[in-house]
Amino acid sequence: MVNPRAHYGVDAPGVLVGLTLGGIAELAVTAVLFAVGWTIPAVVLLIGGIILVAGAAVFAHTTLRGKFKVWDAEIDRLGLKGDERVLDMGCGRGLVLLKVAARLSSGKATGIDLWVTKDQSGNSQDATWANARAEGVADRVELVTGDMRDLPFDDATFDLVVSSLAVHNIPDAEGRAQAVREAFRVLKPGGLLRLADFRNTRQYAEVLRECGAADVEVYDLGWRFWYGGPQGRTAMVACRRP
Ligand SMILES: C[S@@+](CC[C@H](N)C(=O)[O-])C[C@H]1O[C@@H](n2cnc3c(N)ncnc32)[C@H](O)[C@@H]1O
Repeated sequence: MVNPRAHYGVDAPGVLVGLTLGGIAELAVTAVLFAVGWTIPAVVLLIGGIILVAGAAVFAHTTLRGKFKVWDAEIDRLGLKGDERVLDMGCGRGLVLLKVAARLSSGKATGIDLWVTKDQSGNSQDATWANARAEGVADRVELVTGDMRDLPFDDATFDLVVSSLAVHNIPDAEGRAQAVREAFRVLKPGGLLRLADFRNTRQYAEVLRECGAADVEVYDLGWRFWYGGPQGRTAMVACRRP
């Protein structure tokens, strides 16, 4: 169930607006071309417009509903006891962070972010606190402003590190690898990592193997986590710190 009092924004809002406006523009030009009798170019543009509008619809579903369901299932599968210390890297407005917090009793969920609004609409620490209160989990949540490439936490602090659609926002490969190494560094022995992203996941898995991670796997998260279509499919990188 989606809590109507919590608002998690839209991922990469510029991409969604671009897909929607591009699709509408193509369909409008299609109508004009049909009207003047240019049937073949009209059919080509019609197909392009339908693909863009359908992509926008799939993107909107993923960011507003689909990823919620996927993460619910992923977190349930972890079988948390409730006393864990959990870190969400690039928590944004708190979708994953607060789902984890809702499954904790004496544990604590920490979210770290730079609150970039081009990566998520309305992104701010205040918005995340408002969602934590709306979900009734503010007492189990801690928010930190910081860069995931340089986590301000000691080694072996967390039982679980999660991240959703955040690491790809780091523009360079070495920066992304550094963020993955940091996630592994702050895991306790026996701790788990679950990192979802829509590209670079094989590289993240390779970095984790180099760090000495156990049980490293990459698996597809299905159509509910497609950003615009199958070309924007999301995969989970999972591992355990030995
Ligand atoms: C697409 S949003 C996803 C937010 C959230 N994980 C979710 O699934 O709703 C990506 C997030 O990564 C954050 N971010 C980008 N680069 C970051 C960095 N270097 N360190 C920490 N957070 C970062 C952005 O501010 C944004 O909140």
